[in-house]
Amino acid sequence: MSERRIEQIITGIPTSDGAGVKLTRVLTQHLQHRLDPFLMLDAFGGDQADDYIAGFPDHPHRGFETVTYMIAGRMRHRDSAGNEGLLENGGVQWMTAGRGVIHSELPEQEEGVMEGFQLWLNLPARDKMCEPWYRDFKAQDLPHITTPEGVAVTVIAGQCGGVPGAVTRDATQPLYLDVHLPAGTSFEQALPAHHNAFVYVYWGALQVAGQDVPSQRMAILANDPACDRVVLHAPASATEPVRALLIAGQPLKEPIVQYGPFVMNRPEEIHQAIADFRAGRLA
Ligand code: CO
Repeated sequence: MSERRIEQIITGIPTSDGAGVKLTRVLTQHLQHRLDPFLMLDAFGGDQADDYIAGFPDHPHRGFETVTYMIAGRMRHRDSAGNEGLLENGGVQWMTAGRGVIHSELPEQEEGVMEGFQLWLNLPARDKMCEPWYRDFKAQDLPHITTPEGVAVTVIAGQCGGVPGAVTRDATQPLYLDVHLPAGTSFEQALPAHHNAFVYVYWGALQVAGQDVPSQRMAILANDPACDRVVLHAPASATEPVRALLIAGQPLKEPIVQYGPFVMNRPEEIHQAIADFRAGRLA
């Protein structure tokens, strides 16, 4: 068995969302089938308050999960289920919208850098109308491992080196790792061949199977039955550890119909979500 190669390098699309938060949409709607069960990845923030200060005021979700990973900054979350939490440097918020939540995500800082990611993970058809679920993990509550070579890994979901991540899901089996590779090191991760997988490099640049992945690019990894792992290499010339997200999951292979913050299987279910939201039945 050998290591996965890169199928395609993706440059994200600069945009804004919420009340004007600057972000880069890395995983866009046209990649939802290729990267099933993942629906979206946004890299948000900036070093100017104007980039993020307006935040994401009250908005609904139905039919999937949102995973917010805060690299730097402070963001307060409140939702219609009565949950409230402060997301800080290195923390993760995992929210299963299920049948519906209305929530806000608002910065609690007026200056300095805010940087983070929001990943949307689909729910299988049978769970789309489940009860909402929510959990906040502070940085120190997330499983961390350091390899003998000195590669530091935060295990947000899945399994890495025998260490289970903070969250596991049967249907989609998500793997979500934040990997920091010092110059000249490598990191190897087992990946089932049929799981869809990608790497997003957010500091520095790295190599996968001899091909470069530049900074702030996503590499979609080819699905090859002969491959059982991926290996990330940090160049010897890196001046600081290279940082990348490694994300993979088992595809659901179900129809995907998205209308803004609602992701269901059939158009009728989207019409129902809109009607439920307007009638106040989502909260
Ligand atoms: Co939201």
